[in-house]
Amino acid sequence: MAPNEPVAPPAPDGVDVEKPSAARIYDWFLGGTHNYAVDREFGKRLVAGFPLIRPIARSNRAWLGRVVRDAVGAGFRQFLDLGSGVPTVGNVHEIVRDTLPAGEEATVVYVDYEEVAAAHARIMLEEQEVTDWVGFVQSDLRDVDRVLKARETRELIDFKQPVCLLLVSVLHFLGPGDQPAELVARYQQKLAPGSRLAISHVTVDGAPSEDLPEALKVVEAYKSTSNPYWLRTHGEIAALFNDWPLIDPGLVALTDWHSENPRWMSLEDEEVRPYNWGAVAEKPAKNRRSKST
Ligand SMILES: C[S@@+](CC[C@H](N)C(=O)[O-])C[C@H]1O[C@@H](n2cnc3c(N)ncnc32)[C@H](O)[C@@H]1O
Repeated sequence: MAPNEPVAPPAPDGVDVEKPSAARIYDWFLGGTHNYAVDREFGKRLVAGFPLIRPIARSNRAWLGRVVRDAVGAGFRQFLDLGSGVPTVGNVHEIVRDTLPAGEEATVVYVDYEEVAAAHARIMLEEQEVTDWVGFVQSDLRDVDRVLKARETRELIDFKQPVCLLLVSVLHFLGPGDQPAELVARYQQKLAPGSRLAISHVTVDGAPSEDLPEALKVVEAYKSTSNPYWLRTHGEIAALFNDWPLIDPGLVALTDWHSENPRWMSLEDEEVRPYNWGAVAEKPAKNRRSKST
């Protein structure tokens, strides 16, 4: 751990109804019901000061959908979703199921350390009768060994085959002292050539000066929750992909990544643009020359 650099708090122990949690606040932003009064009160205060926060959450969730559909279209059949959140509209396994060509199969493993996310994910997977191909691991993603050695991961993910690794709207919950790039590298090392890594991450790089103070107040407010977060710049977020090349169009505003209506942006698309960078990288095939030397 880097000396004197802040780290994120440890994984929560059970449900904390005293402090708002990122998973439950995000669920409320998206219109879900798996949240408590403390989360809703916190969310309402944020929305009052910075109304864009809800469209930013929706835009991130829509991006996740586009990334997963693109990956299924590119042939990916294994998904590892770290910081998957409370199940809500457009869960990864539902997108995979709806996008897969008829007769084909896939697997999905969700990972989140939040109690409410875990409880609702498990109920949903049972109810949908999908536990033969979708699993949930309740773990801090910083505990890489625990995530990779979990029964669900071992049973559902074949690491000899390409995996689509999703770190969507979660790495900003890691502090500099958590050394996020090194952490991501540990997952990258485990993945087969041809695997994908998708990251979206909040920023204020291009925030208009009149909106910046309110956007920064949101960061301040999250310090009182179970999940403080850290803004990063385009360069800092690019570094989280380590040496994997980014696929087209690179690290861009989420609304510019395989947008469904590239020629027609809504006002909302324009307004949320400065607050999230996202990209997908692919692990290159092994270099044959270096293999034989
Ligand atoms: C904003 S939500 C994102 C959910 C989903 N990935 C999406 O983009 O729609 C962030 C999630 O990351 C989880 N999270 C934050 N830090 C984590 C950690 N260290 N380990 C596991 N989960 C974490 C939170 O509990 C929350 O559910």
